[in-house]
Amino acid sequence: MRVDVLNGVNLDVLGRRDPTLYGGLSLEELEALIGSWAGELGCSVRCRQTNSEGEYVDWCHEALDAADGVVVNPGAWSHYSYAIRDALELLAVPLVEVHLSNIDEREEWRRHSVISELASKRIVGRGPGGYRDALEFLVSS
Ligand code: DQA
Repeated sequence: MRVDVLNGVNLDVLGRRDPTLYGGLSLEELEALIGSWAGELGCSVRCRQTNSEGEYVDWCHEALDAADGVVVNPGAWSHYSYAIRDALELLAVPLVEVHLSNIDEREEWRRHSVISELASKRIVGRGPGGYRDALEFLVSS
C-alpha cells in the first residue's frame, strides 16, 4: 500500500508553534515518525509539505494515480479552500483528515472543515499519534 501524507500551510514551522496545541515536534521529526510507523505497518509513505495552495492541489492530483490511500492535514486551508476540496473529491481511494489539535473545541471558525465530508475518517486532537491512527486505518481498510 502506498500512502501520500500531505501537510499544508504553516506545518513547516511545527516546533515553533504553540506546543500546547500542536506538540513540540518539528515537521522533520514528525515525518521521521510517520516513516517509522509506516515501516511497522508494512506500507510505503511519501510525506510532503508546502505553503503554496497551488502546489498542494497539484500533489492531490498526483495522488490520484500514485496512492492507495491519502492522509491530509491542510492546516488553515481545511477551513476554507474549495480548491483543495475539489481536488480531493476526485480521489477514488480512502482519504483520512488529520488535525494535531482538537479543532472541534477551538475557535468557532476552526470547527468547520470543507474537507471533512469527503474523508473516510477524521482524526482530531491526537497530536502526532493521529497520523499513526490514520495509517492504521488505511492499512486495515
Ligand atoms: C491544524 C488546525 C488548523 O486549524 C490550523 O490552522 C493548523 C493546524 C492542526 O493540525 O491542528 O495550521 O490543521
